[in-house]
Amino acid sequence: MTVSLFEKKTFSPDETVLCGKKLAEMVDKQGLPGFICLSGDLGTGKTEFTRGIASWFSPASKVRSPSFTIVNEYRRGTRPVFHFDVYRIDGDDDLVSSGFFDYPEEGVFVVEWAEKIASSLPPDRIEVTISRDGDENSRLIKANLITRKAGISE
Ligand SMILES: Nc1ncnc2c1ncn2[C@@H]1O[C@H](COP(=O)(O)OP(=O)(O)OP(=O)(O)O)[C@@H](O)[C@H]1O
Ligand SMILES: [Mg+2]
Repeated sequence: MTVSLFEKKTFSPDETVLCGKKLAEMVDKQGLPGFICLSGDLGTGKTEFTRGIASWFSPASKVRSPSFTIVNEYRRGTRPVFHFDVYRIDGDDDLVSSGFFDYPEEGVFVVEWAEKIASSLPPDRIEVTISRDGDENSRLIKANLITRKAGISE
């Protein structure tokens, strides 16, 4: 089942960072799945949003886009964050060699362009979509929980 977590409009990169931090806090305090899929066109703010997630779990880390490295690791806080950008992933072999399946599940996974590896995503996850919305600095951010559980305890 799919449960809407929030919909938020942001008007600056900093607001998007804050929105990512808010989601991380929800994951932490509500025990939501630590696997966060980010979708949205080029340059909509997936990396900015990740900056916010990492600021909650690994505040001492500097977030950089992993477009060329596929994955960056942030381990300077309470929980390691594995930040993937699978835009350039081409097939399962690439994903395997990126180490995607070898990371410990106690980590928080954040995956930019997750829709490109749809068949490899876990059944319980959070899906965030970011879209441009009006003027240059406006974004609409929607977060949904995808879960196999029929009910969610508050
Ligand atoms: N409200 C906003 N939220 C997020 N980013 C914004 C916003 N307004 C403007 N921006 C700008 O949009 C860009 C977002 O870049 P970012 O690298 O986060 O995008 P991305 O979705 O990760 O791109 P890519 O698909 O290339 O990985 C930045 O240059 C940022 O300054
Ligand atoms: Mg990015």
